[in-house]
Amino acid sequence: MAQLKRVGVLTGGGDCPGLNAVIRAVVKTATRDCGIEAYGVEDGYEGLVEDRIRPLSYDDVSGILTAGGTVLGTSNRGSPFGYCEPGMEEQGPQDRAESAVANFRKAGLDALVCIGGDGTLSVAHRLGQQGIPIVGVPKTIDNDVCETDVTFGFDTAAQIVADAVDRLHTTAQSHHRVMVIETMGRYVGWLALVGGIAGGGDIILIPEIPYSLQSVCEAVRERGRRGRRFSIVVISEGVRPPGGDYVARQRVEESHEQLRLGGVGVWLARTIEEMTGIESRAAVLGHLQRGGTPTARDRVLATQFGREAMAAAARGEFGVMVALKGNQITSVPLEKVAECRRPVDPECQLVRAARSVGTSFGDD
Ligand code: F6P
Repeated sequence: MAQLKRVGVLTGGGDCPGLNAVIRAVVKTATRDCGIEAYGVEDGYEGLVEDRIRPLSYDDVSGILTAGGTVLGTSNRGSPFGYCEPGMEEQGPQDRAESAVANFRKAGLDALVCIGGDGTLSVAHRLGQQGIPIVGVPKTIDNDVCETDVTFGFDTAAQIVADAVDRLHTTAQSHHRVMVIETMGRYVGWLALVGGIAGGGDIILIPEIPYSLQSVCEAVRERGRRGRRFSIVVISEGVRPPGGDYVARQRVEESHEQLRLGGVGVWLARTIEEMTGIESRAAVLGHLQRGGTPTARDRVLATQFGREAMAAAARGEFGVMVALKGNQITSVPLEKVAECRRPVDPECQLVRAARSVGTSFGDD
């Protein structure tokens, strides 16, 4: 543990509940257990390129365990390998990896803990190849990072989806409507699946399971025949209309994932209403799923991840990401995580359980 003197920590990509808990665990473990100074990099990789790096003391991170968001700020645009200078976007993305490495060295850092999803971790892997000793920590409400059973932030987001489904249940029931609830999750269906099962969704549509509109509408009608005059449909934002393309609200050129999905739920509600004649409404949960205090499970997982990331750095174990496998926190090579996405297996136990309690995936 002795050689390391200074460790940096940054949060990249979309925020999610539990980021502060990881920062706290990294800084406290560094200063308390390892006698290492900790530094925070502001706004993800932007702060590394622009040299916004500041000391973080044990006291600085006291009291942030339960706070949502990230005290360091974050960005999902600032990759040093395709950096768009704020205010100079017209000149296009520039390779600023050299500045990032130079600023890392100028701050006297010996290691960098990068907390992020697949985009942030892919950049981390490339920075590792440029000579920065990296330890990654898997975060995202999408739960799509490879080589870990789960990411922190997912449990909280799934709970928010379940709470929303509960609330929308009563209004759907009162008005005898179909209520379509659109979740985030990008190109994988974990959030819609777990939140939908927890909330008792009648129909769950995820990108990994092809569906037909006839089957979705038949499931709604069948409920009606059994006296259920309302239906709850949970749809992931990454579901495409049959034969169509992703529904997006925005394109962000300078981002790792350029398409900002959103809006498929509104299309589905309109289509169900047209096909069944049953009044339908859509609710897009959006960024609500990323806000607020983390669940107990996420606080604990984030604390364990932060502690183990710091311990790996102190052991000199770099080019790795901490991961949960079974009940154990372990570490995996970053190269196996970079540019990788973990989808839902359509045959997994979760899907089977949902089917057994009568949930339709629109493929019957
Ligand atoms: O990756 C997390 C996530 O919340 C996705 O579920 C969603 O598609 C995306 O980020 C939204 O990004 P932004 O905050 O840039 O709109």
